[in-house]
Amino acid sequence: MSAQRVTIHTLRACKGRGERITMLTAYDATFARLLDEAGADILLVGDSLGMVVQGHDTTLPVTLDDMIYHCRAVARGARRAQIVGDMPFMTYQESVELGVRNAGRLIKEGGCHAIKLEGGAQHAELVARLVASGIPVMGHIGLTPQSFHQMGGFRVQGKDAAGAARLIADARALEAAGAYALVLEGMPSEVAAEITAALAIPTIGIGAGVGCDGQVLVIYDLLGMDDRFKPKFVRRYADVGATIKDACGRFIADVRAGSFPAQAESFSTISEPAGAPAALPFYSSSGRK
Ligand code: KIV
Repeated sequence: MSAQRVTIHTLRACKGRGERITMLTAYDATFARLLDEAGADILLVGDSLGMVVQGHDTTLPVTLDDMIYHCRAVARGARRAQIVGDMPFMTYQESVELGVRNAGRLIKEGGCHAIKLEGGAQHAELVARLVASGIPVMGHIGLTPQSFHQMGGFRVQGKDAAGAARLIADARALEAAGAYALVLEGMPSEVAAEITAALAIPTIGIGAGVGCDGQVLVIYDLLGMDDRFKPKFVRRYADVGATIKDACGRFIADVRAGSFPAQAESFSTISEPAGAPAALPFYSSSGRK
């Protein structure tokens, strides 16, 4: 029996019941399947892929075609989670028309169920147009990585009274425009809690404290894939980077020593040993499922 897909209504109901929402980033089908099976409510195909997959210092170089490619892969992997695709830098800032056209491509070509865009009240008109076109919008305020240069780096926002008031006004404007959820990134927990209490739509925090309706982390950070990066707001649940290096190091040593592949891992013109599984074509989809 297939699991019921998480929708914007499921998420609103979670907030009503006080059930915390979980969101994780995913960039490919294998991770999408694993995170979906783990029970994540939302898979965000974040433009963070520009940093963790493509190796850039910021998210700014990511293109819409990059996003569509990764969204399609994630959409193939997940059955239950809602899939949200990030609108990359300069695919919506220039005009409402451009934003509508590009968001439409993420939905039609990328297979996403919703899009996310960064920024506050200045995008209210675009949000309203997207929602009127049938495209659910997740907002994103606070530390918005696409404004890296404007912010002067990755800096916590809303630390003084004026900054906090701006964030609260932005949150209200996005809700009024029809956004179904908001990411609150890099802001004092008091401000995030105040926004969460003021809105009927769910908030999903990252570096915004425990008072949000849900939490999101970049999957590579949660798994400990990069030992050079350990900001305060990340909790590492595994040391997968070390596991990968260890496993690959052992493979390299085995190959160099001539101990991989063994006879049992090789094909032969002589008959296969009793009990050996029927040979599968290399990398057939049936062999991998
Ligand atoms: O791009 C991303 O991964 C994000 C999350 C950090 C919220 O926007």
